[in-house]
Amino acid sequence: MITLAFDVYGTLIDTQGVVEALREVVGEQADELARAWREKQLEYSFRRGLMQYYVDFATCTAQALDYCCQARGISLSSADRQALLDGYGTLPAFEDVPEALCSLETAGVRLFAFSNGTREAVEGLLGHAGIRQHFLDVVSVDELRSFKPNPAVYCHFLRRAGATGEASWLISGNPFDVIGARAAGMHAAWVRRGAAVFDPWGIEPDLTVGDLGELADYLSGIDHSRQPPSKGK
Ligand code: 2OP
Repeated sequence: MITLAFDVYGTLIDTQGVVEALREVVGEQADELARAWREKQLEYSFRRGLMQYYVDFATCTAQALDYCCQARGISLSSADRQALLDGYGTLPAFEDVPEALCSLETAGVRLFAFSNGTREAVEGLLGHAGIRQHFLDVVSVDELRSFKPNPAVYCHFLRRAGATGEASWLISGNPFDVIGARAAGMHAAWVRRGAAVFDPWGIEPDLTVGDLGELADYLSGIDHSRQPPSKGK
């Protein structure tokens, strides 16, 4: 049976959901700051992983917010700072997600959430978005005290899910995550949200979809008892 490992931030959950809360605090800079915050949060996770100097993802998120504000000369009150960080725990799901997860569940595939976030943070997010019930379990990189795209975390996912790379797909909106999973021997589908560009590394997703509805349509048409699906970009 096919196992699907769903990335969380940027795939199921919309990290740009912080924009409205940011707008109340920083006005017109909100869109740019939300993007920069996300990029810095990921940069911190990459660097922490490489340095083997682990802190959890929420700490990367908080430190990235502090950096981005400082770099722009923005001084947040501690109440505003806390409200923004709390808001990260209640980000919304992308619109296409709830229906697609229902379809995938009935298509006979095993669904897991697999994230840089701690189990507690991801359980909270998925519960708040009303989609936790679709997943057999939450697998967090925190169990290994490292971050994507360390190959060890994809192997950890396979062990935890009791699955092989051949019969498992990472589903992610983050190109670095797709490349990490492919390099670690998993299949991977890229959910191309908006006008995102894929890194030209020569390591391609097995499948590219515009949203999770397309993924559900594709996987629903496959006999999962026989072999893993495969389809070019
Ligand atoms: C996640 O692991 C990569 O942030 C993304 O949820």
